[in-house]
Amino acid sequence: MTSPKKLFIKTYGCQMNVYDSERMSEALGEQGYVATDTPDDADMILLNTCHIRERAAEKVYSELGRYKGLKEARPDLKIGVAGCVAQAEGAEIMRRQPLVDLVVGPQSYHRLPQMEAQVRTGVRALDTDFPEEDKFEALKARPRARRAPAAFLTVQEGCDKFCAFCVVPYTRGAEVSRPADRVLAEARDLVARGVREITLLGQNVNAYHGAGAGGDWSLARLIWALNDVDGLERIRFTTSHPNDMSDDLIEAHATCPKLMPYLHLPVQSGSDRILKRMNRSHTAESYLRLIERLRAARPDILMSGDFIVGFPEETEADFQATLDLIEAVGYGYAYTFKYSTRPGTPAADRAQVDEDVKDDRLQRLQALITRQQQAVQQSMVGRDLTVLFEKPGRMPGQMGGKSEYLHAVHVLAPEARPGDMARVRITESARNSLKGVLI
Ligand code: SF4
Ligand code: F3S
Repeated sequence: MTSPKKLFIKTYGCQMNVYDSERMSEALGEQGYVATDTPDDADMILLNTCHIRERAAEKVYSELGRYKGLKEARPDLKIGVAGCVAQAEGAEIMRRQPLVDLVVGPQSYHRLPQMEAQVRTGVRALDTDFPEEDKFEALKARPRARRAPAAFLTVQEGCDKFCAFCVVPYTRGAEVSRPADRVLAEARDLVARGVREITLLGQNVNAYHGAGAGGDWSLARLIWALNDVDGLERIRFTTSHPNDMSDDLIEAHATCPKLMPYLHLPVQSGSDRILKRMNRSHTAESYLRLIERLRAARPDILMSGDFIVGFPEETEADFQATLDLIEAVGYGYAYTFKYSTRPGTPAADRAQVDEDVKDDRLQRLQALITRQQQAVQQSMVGRDLTVLFEKPGRMPGQMGGKSEYLHAVHVLAPEARPGDMARVRITESARNSLKGVLI
């Protein structure tokens, strides 16, 4: 028997890439590959890339450069680039980096097995199509391996919103929703393999409108159907757009037992002038009203968001409006970014903000967010929460997991196994996690 070939996948970017890497690994598993966690002994290296900011894309080229020695030592090593940089720059990658054998976009990776066979014969392969067929259906045959207790499941992909700064509509294509029965089948399969928490993924997940019994299903309807799946304990979804936060979804936060009290709802800026220039089609006020309604439905819901500082033409007053909005909301967590020019997007040609101004604003923004995050974590101390254990912690007998509010929680629980859930009293707030004791 020949020994299995080894596959090393390195994943950049958002959770959808994490999900895609999983699926690519499974697809190549059927070609006899097993996963390895180092590039050094791999027969194939696959970089699943992100194009969202300039630095993300540059990292890919420098990482590729590092594999030169490996490829010289083992000419049979195959190197592939997948994901959003592959989609955006496919042929350019082939030209710029001759050691790349294979480039595959996010919508065509179900063709990886054929592409792998092709590169084994010494012919480079490039596929950045947006094919008609459903890649998830084409990837149906799946191994039955056990899975970690928390899993991602892509239900919607692509974006029609065209925010003026963003490449995603170009790299992921138009909004497409998977049919509800296929999502439910995949969820049941995940549960059978040990999964207890599912995070539904989409670039605009709350714009989900998949074909289902009786017509198109909304995300709320899908969540309610998942609520009936035995063995599934928790449901989350990300990322949402404020304009698609429908009444039934807000209502689900009040009434759906398995839906967790956490919502990532990016707003990007608190200045209406900038929001307009960003093509966000909501205002700061409409966003704040939405959060009021969410909190009326679920008073303890924890909010997180994304913010961009230094968008073209952003003044100090615009930035102050962002700080004001953050003060008004009170976030549990937030991702903060300096605006990064993306060629081909509308904002790229506008008057840019100086780099040191961006740096200064980012620092002030982060300081405020950190204060809010710490305050929320501190407010958890003394409370009793439910933790889904995911993996052993660093200390002997310790287990790490997540609370309802997505905080990482470490607990001394020598008997517990990944997948167990336990009531935990929170005793301490650390920098990015909580500590607690079993009740
Ligand atoms: Fe990008 Fe805006 Fe679409 Fe989100 S909604 S993926 S930020 S274009
Ligand atoms: Fe990056 Fe593509 Fe996700 S650009 S953030 S990997 S959709």
